Amino acid sequence: MNILVTGGAGFIGRWVVKQLLSENHSITVMDNLSNGRLENIEEFKNNSNFKFIGGDIRDKSKLDEVFKDKFDIIYHLAASINVQDSIDDPETTFFNDVVGTFNILERAKMQMFGKNGRTDGNGWILDSKEDTYPCKVVFMSTCMVYDVSGNEGIPENHPVKPVSPYGGSKIAAENMVLSYYNAYRLPTVVIRPFNTYGPFQKTGGEGGVVAIFINNVLHGRNINIYGSGEQTRDLLYVKDCADFIVASGYSEKVNGQVVNAGTGRDVTINELADIIVHNKVKINHVKHIHPQSEIMKLKCNYSKAKRLIGWEPKYTLQQGLKETRKWIMGTKLLK
Ligand SMILES: NC(=O)c1ccc[n+]([C@@H]2O[C@H](COP(=O)([O-])OP(=O)(O)OC[C@H]3O[C@@H](n4cnc5c(N)ncnc54)[C@H](O)[C@@H]3O)[C@@H](O)[C@H]2O)c1
Repeated sequence: MNILVTGGAGFIGRWVVKQLLSENHSITVMDNLSNGRLENIEEFKNNSNFKFIGGDIRDKSKLDEVFKDKFDIIYHLAASINVQDSIDDPETTFFNDVVGTFNILERAKMQMFGKNGRTDGNGWILDSKEDTYPCKVVFMSTCMVYDVSGNEGIPENHPVKPVSPYGGSKIAAENMVLSYYNAYRLPTVVIRPFNTYGPFQKTGGEGGVVAIFINNVLHGRNINIYGSGEQTRDLLYVKDCADFIVASGYSEKVNGQVVNAGTGRDVTINELADIIVHNKVKINHVKHIHPQSEIMKLKCNYSKAKRLIGWEPKYTLQQGLKETRKWIMGTKLLK
């Protein structure tokens, strides 16, 4: 298949690309490198099935150019991803995550139904003179849209609550993605992976908690925990995450649906710190930078993913942490 991956030079995107290339698809990555890196996709550059386009999903004419190619699946991962950045600069997050997603949906709709296609309620009447081509959009949302929950794990019908402009933008974009399924029958799916970690995640302040903790410990630096540390995360290893994303693109059963992915287990940040630190450095508790936008309990119920696409996580936290540590130790990105 011919596949577009937006945000494909980012942490999770590069793993999606790796898996798709290993399954012999032709991949175009579109990324503006605002948070992604060419090093992330270095290993693919000599693969004749791989193409990188530097471009911004807010740029409509660039997108028109990219969509001169026809895609079977569009994995849409490009986004602003940082909660604090979204609080400091909501406009950037809004335009990347909401307007950018709208731009992708419009181009997918145009590719599938053409400029002159019309719906009559029952289906599409296409203009036979137009060169249309069916596609599917996989929209990468996040668990950071959910309201607080108990110990039972969060299913997809759990209430959402936008506690940050990041969460608010993802919910807005999700709704647009589902509206294109309902109103136009454009095949789309909204996926909500839980907090993801692994090799290629940034290790500095803008990275994920696992990468930051491991990197600090390897450098003998103390680690800081925001707030009480009693907030929990369901940590999904990036290879399991990529596997889920790819499978959501292949399956028609998930079209028009919202689907979670996680491990079904959560750890508090205090527990995670203890596992990673092993008494090697000091753990400090510091004032939370955005307590109002924190989600205190995130534990996934992934039974829908299991039922619809047969997906289950394969990595335990211990295995995932071990691979991540190994990668950070071996990388030249280590600072
Ligand atoms: N990391 C997690 O724990 C996690 C969990 C669930 C969902 N997600 C979602 O997964 C996706 C990927 O996240 P990630 O952790 O790999 O982050 P990332 O920042 O590494 O990846 C996002 C990529 O999108 C690119 N990008 C941003 N704005 C763009 C624009 N306007 N045009 C083109 N490219 C643009 C960035 O350069 C980057 O390469 C995001 O949609 C994020 O919301 C992440």
